[in-house]
Amino acid sequence: MNEFTGVPARIPWVVGVTGASGVAYATSVLRGLLDAGESVDLVVSKAGRLTMLDELGFSIRDRNWREDVAAWLERDVSDVAYWSATDFAAGPSSGSYRMRGMIVVPATTAVVAGIATGMSKDLIQRAGDVVLKEGLKLVLVVREAPLRAAALEHMSSLAREGAVVMPASPAFYAGVKDVQDLVDFLAGRVLDQCGIEHDLYRRWQGNLRDAESDPEAS
Ligand SMILES: Cc1cc2nc3c(=O)[nH]c(=O)nc-3n(C[C@H](O)[C@H](O)[C@H](O)COP(=O)(O)O)c2cc1C
Repeated sequence: MNEFTGVPARIPWVVGVTGASGVAYATSVLRGLLDAGESVDLVVSKAGRLTMLDELGFSIRDRNWREDVAAWLERDVSDVAYWSATDFAAGPSSGSYRMRGMIVVPATTAVVAGIATGMSKDLIQRAGDVVLKEGLKLVLVVREAPLRAAALEHMSSLAREGAVVMPASPAFYAGVKDVQDLVDFLAGRVLDQCGIEHDLYRRWQGNLRDAESDPEAS
């Protein structure tokens, strides 16, 4: 709450979209955040624009970001702020900027390396660095296969520092039927880490539903 205006402070989740395969995960996480009434600060890396182009058929233009993001997410984006990945003067570059935390989705092994080693080569890497140094939540949805030793070591170092390393590795339980269910399952697990309410997947209730109805399985 602002003590002068009485207006509640805007404290966003910073969402970094980097150039790994799996833009669909970003779509589902961003929709989940907005549907839960959360504020979002969005940053898309240079390579992220390429994967977006490849996987969605369009990308986000800095000058037309509001229109492009609204068309992408099919949501009201009035509480979304957008920062260029090259803008080191952007809010999330500073520890004094109010943020709930940061989600990098999908995360490349390059951004993982950059945050782990403190490279700050672009705003996403810098914001990741800031979020960690400030002790805020950092969730990294890493997508690469196979993983070389350096990537595993970077992830291990980030986990020791308190980051949540969340491989883009959806589970097949919870009655998933199609690719969108797999995507939403992973996105829902990301939102779980951030304490955000959602109904993106069916939670495990302790019943082996299909096995119980299959006489061959007992
Ligand atoms: C179509 C496409 C798919 C890619 N998929 C991956 C991937 O799944 N994981 C990954 O770590 N890098 C992937 N890359 C490579 C990264 O985009 C590249 O390493 C880039 O430098 C990452 O920069 P960023 O972390 O700033 O986005 C892909 C690149 C392209 C063009």
